[in-house]
Amino acid sequence: MYNRFIMERFQNPKNAGGMHGANAIGEVKNDGCTDITRLYLKIDDNNMIENARFKTFGCITSIVSADVTCDLVKGKSIDDILKITNLDILKIMGEIPENKIKCSIMAEESIRAAIEDFYKRREKEAKKALKASKYNVEEE
Ligand code: FES
Repeated sequence: MYNRFIMERFQNPKNAGGMHGANAIGEVKNDGCTDITRLYLKIDDNNMIENARFKTFGCITSIVSADVTCDLVKGKSIDDILKITNLDILKIMGEIPENKIKCSIMAEESIRAAIEDFYKRREKEAKKALKASKYNVEEE
């Protein structure tokens, strides 16, 4: 049913687990089966992806898709990773059963969810900094 690459990555995922210091976390649920993928990213000041890890509660396809996605995003810019689709992920994984396509789309969607989270956090920090500076300005 699954090719050798998929079975090997399923048994030995390279990027499984959470991440301390992640500044972008994207969580996506597969509405069909309610499985979940969570993507953790560490994004540097130049908007480059320093590191990526994942946690998935799901099937073989969802686990390997998330693992491959971590490989695909590392070292790339935010702009570049937003162009990644499940077709790029499947190009690396090889053929999967037709009814598992949705499971690979979860990995693609987790990228967008993580970047959305990154910008929300950044906005929150900017507002906090602005508020702090407002109260630190001395009155003339
Ligand atoms: Fe639920 Fe694949 S993610 S069956």
